[in-house]
Amino acid sequence: MSTSNSPVIGQPVPRVDGRLKVTGGARYAAEFNQPNQAYAVIVSATIGLGRITSIDSAPVMRLPGVLTVISHLNAPRLAYQPYKGVIDPGVGERLHVLQDDQVRFFGQPVAVVVADSLDHAERAAAALRIRYAASRPVTDIHDPRAEQVIATQTAAVNARVAADRKRGKADSALAAAPVKVDAVYEMARENHNPMEPHATVAAWRGGKLTLWSKSQYVGNEQAEMAAIFGIARENVQVNCPFVGGAFGTSLRTWPHVTLAAVAAREIGRPVKLVLTRRQMSFTTGHRPRTEQRVALGATADGKLTSIIHEAFAETSRYEQFFEGITNQSEFLYSCPNVRTRYRIVPTDTSTPTPMRAPGEASGAYALECAMDELAVALNIDPIELRRRNEPKVDESSGRPFSSRSLLQCLDLGAERFGWSRRDPAPGSMRDGRLLIGWGVATTTRSAAQAPSDAIARLMPDGTVEIEVATADMGPGTYTSMTQVAADTLGLPMDRVRFTLGRSDLPTAPSHGGSWTMASVGTAIRAACLAVQAEAAKRAIADRRSPLYGAPIEQLEWTEGRLRRRSDTEAGETYRDVVGNQGPIQSKASASRSPDIANKFSMYGFGAFFAEVSVDPDVRTVRVRRLVGVYGAGRIINPRLATSQCIGGMVGGIGQALMERTVLDPRNGRPVNAHMADYLVPVNLDIGSLETHFLEEQDSIVNPLGAKGIGELSIVGVAPAIANAVYHATGKRVRELPIRIENLLEA
Ligand code: MOS
Repeated sequence: MSTSNSPVIGQPVPRVDGRLKVTGGARYAAEFNQPNQAYAVIVSATIGLGRITSIDSAPVMRLPGVLTVISHLNAPRLAYQPYKGVIDPGVGERLHVLQDDQVRFFGQPVAVVVADSLDHAERAAAALRIRYAASRPVTDIHDPRAEQVIATQTAAVNARVAADRKRGKADSALAAAPVKVDAVYEMARENHNPMEPHATVAAWRGGKLTLWSKSQYVGNEQAEMAAIFGIARENVQVNCPFVGGAFGTSLRTWPHVTLAAVAAREIGRPVKLVLTRRQMSFTTGHRPRTEQRVALGATADGKLTSIIHEAFAETSRYEQFFEGITNQSEFLYSCPNVRTRYRIVPTDTSTPTPMRAPGEASGAYALECAMDELAVALNIDPIELRRRNEPKVDESSGRPFSSRSLLQCLDLGAERFGWSRRDPAPGSMRDGRLLIGWGVATTTRSAAQAPSDAIARLMPDGTVEIEVATADMGPGTYTSMTQVAADTLGLPMDRVRFTLGRSDLPTAPSHGGSWTMASVGTAIRAACLAVQAEAAKRAIADRRSPLYGAPIEQLEWTEGRLRRRSDTEAGETYRDVVGNQGPIQSKASASRSPDIANKFSMYGFGAFFAEVSVDPDVRTVRVRRLVGVYGAGRIINPRLATSQCIGGMVGGIGQALMERTVLDPRNGRPVNAHMADYLVPVNLDIGSLETHFLEEQDSIVNPLGAKGIGELSIVGVAPAIANAVYHATGKRVRELPIRIENLLEA
């Protein structure tokens, strides 16, 4: 049996859930109000380190509407069974909320107030008096009391990320290099700040917990809550049909989910708990602040002879968070001598978490700025420098790339951007009184695939139901997966219904890492192929079918019909085949074969070109133009992919010029934990954003040939902008975000 595809994949179809979203019909976690629901408000610690000496809840209990005040003094002891999801740090232990008197970081939840209305709960929470014995926390990676530790390698975590790695002799090669650069790059802590706040509605019925909870990973939330409460996974149901942006902050299950469930159990009523914007800077992860040294050595004609990349980053005391910050320095360019080193610094703050291209976005900033500095030192065009160091294989492993279009991306981007008109001399280009700078940088991100299951169910009315416990935090997963199913089955999209966001659906990996299409899409494709085969078997076995008794290898599905191969007869539709014998269901599991995983190096590649203007007097920087070109394999939906790339570029602009979580050095309080002072780009900050996808066929990476685009579209944006700022001003700022004051300094 064979299948021929109608061309639904690759079409720029609009979002299948677009109408629901713009009409308010899409329901987010906090909108799942339950009958008799109460409201919980978290009280956050106001010291950075120490312990709670007293909590005076009696006066608060007398306030109107207050149902209970829960703190470590009266909270139930929770099971907190050992559990690590793939997105949990391999070493350390999650915060055990309200289980002792210790304060580990500013903003840690120390009590939860539950009342009959949100107003009453907020008022009572504000009135709760808590005394502390405070000591001085370490909140800064440069604090002399801080130590740098090697992230411990465990089987549960990516050992490659944690390890120091080297090939050749990078230090002596650097010393001997005729041309070299050696610089330190700093990047600020960032918080995700999606539009939708973290929210959970929790309800118990008997021993069963139901959560309507913002999550990129409902399966993990189910498993974690089961472990925390010491109950079976089947007794936890997590629902999350829509996510209002997340960028990684809703991959893990944070303490507020536990608190909502504890509160609901204590008062015997459903409880809603929504974090405030301020609380979103306390316990829901952040991109760690990093400091990186990159040293590059080269021959006079621009061949790299040494790459040294040393990074250190903040983590918490209680968990070792680390990410692939130095990985790309090992394979992005050809170089015989490479050494990477990575240390994390435990501080008295909450644990960082993946934030849009965790590791790569930070690492690329340092590497791609250093490459720009090297190009200047060599007096070679930065694109030409990359051309001269294009590797033939992944030199970190010796494996071939499944596909790699970096130079094509640079060439197309240069053409679209008009790079040939660039005068390389810093400060040489102007528009009226404004200084103009043009910068370039490359991007890369692993094209991963994680195991996923999927169900496809052919219904008697000729429609198909697809089910997977994935999420859609914004990329358009509802739509793109509907395309995959429709394409595989040869059905119009409106015959396909895709359900996601429920923990009782077939298992999916986390909705992150740019791997949802590769993972879930491949599983859906497999389930659709399996259900087609099942349907063919039913037709063959059905005496009333014109295909009764036909040899299966002679049958094929084309355009939603089962026919004998090269038969021009109408054949049978899914509806005919399913008939009145009931739905036909197939479940499939898909994962990358170790054979492929061990043989190939699989990454997406791309290039960014940035134009900035800098006011020569007040030194304000504006990004006037960004051109992004991607070799990301097959693009399932160019409209959605372009939309993702716009998001990535906007995120990169924020990273380059605005985003920065500042901690009060006395207690680790995030001082700009609100949208007035935590700056993100708004419409007026965005100029022209151009996105181009190369035609790239990669039959190795997964059956769909899709490499993922979400994170590829942010890595490299910030360094392209930083390089443009240098080109405009002649001033090399080695700190993100680049602020006016960096450019005013002499
Ligand atoms: Mo992400 S950091 O892949 O949600």
